[in-house]
Amino acid sequence: MDYAKKIIKLKKEKNALILAHFYQIPEIQDIADYVGDSLGLAQKAADADVDMIVFAGVHFMAETAKMLNPESLVVLPDIEAGCSLAESCPLDKFAAFKAKYPDHIVISYINTTAAIKTVTDVVCTSGNAVEIVESFPKDQKIIFAPDKNLGGYINRITGRNMVLWDGTCEVHDILTTESILDLKTENPDASLIAHPECNAPVLELADYIGSTTNMLKFTQSDDSQKYIVATETGIIHQMKLASPEKEFLVVPSDETCSCNDCPYMKLNTMKKLYLAMKNGEPAIELDAETIRKGKRPIERMLEISRKKKLI
Ligand code: 13P
Ligand code: SF4
Repeated sequence: MDYAKKIIKLKKEKNALILAHFYQIPEIQDIADYVGDSLGLAQKAADADVDMIVFAGVHFMAETAKMLNPESLVVLPDIEAGCSLAESCPLDKFAAFKAKYPDHIVISYINTTAAIKTVTDVVCTSGNAVEIVESFPKDQKIIFAPDKNLGGYINRITGRNMVLWDGTCEVHDILTTESILDLKTENPDASLIAHPECNAPVLELADYIGSTTNMLKFTQSDDSQKYIVATETGIIHQMKLASPEKEFLVVPSDETCSCNDCPYMKLNTMKKLYLAMKNGEPAIELDAETIRKGKRPIERMLEISRKKKLI
């Protein structure tokens, strides 16, 4: 079945917009109206003027789109597409944690449930985390949740001492310095680029650290011809499209291991995307109070990002 053709036809019929994260399979990236990182996708969802947003990503991203654009029907091709980071931070446990630090504000990574966003002061993504944190005075006490790797990285580069929730991304945190050092030894001319969800020893080795969009931009502007890419494999598709003459090596290089494929992102398929558009489900449903409270910190993030010219 030619799903691509059917999806293009349905897009017109349903007045739909397809938003895809860089970690989606190449076929989905190729059919999407916009492919981007969490920040770019949130902005596109906020600006969309359509009847249906097809979110080819994971649950927290589709929830964010729904909060920013509650009038649109937001469908997620596979409703089971979750995220280990978002799941590491349930509301009841986080509320108890937060209660221990009554004079702290909460900055949470966009990789959280809508419920966590309702108790957050401002959201951030990997593309603006430093700027969001730096928008507060140096002495502001901050809880950062849920990614301790990203939070630790920001603490190191800003000299802050944010209290960190103990969560990680199962895909990035599994990348080891051993596998990277092997690749570096075999490819001494390659630059190592890493996502800040990687653990501290991996980030220590990196020549460049950034969100998926910023990693992609770096490979376009930098002089190296070869990159060791420490993040989810989906981004390689856009890197190769943008710089076909360059070489991109995935960590770990052992092809029998697909541990750097996000198992949640990769639940979405062309068939599921087609069916979601056709049937208008699975749809994201959120109550009005969650939308009202949850969208405030996301809009605050977008506002700071606009001021800092990040979007
Ligand atoms: P960015 O899209 O901000 O680069 O984050 C990557 C990620 O893990 C999304 O789940
Ligand atoms: Fe979550 Fe990690 Fe998958 Fe991103 S790559 S959706 S952070 S599990």
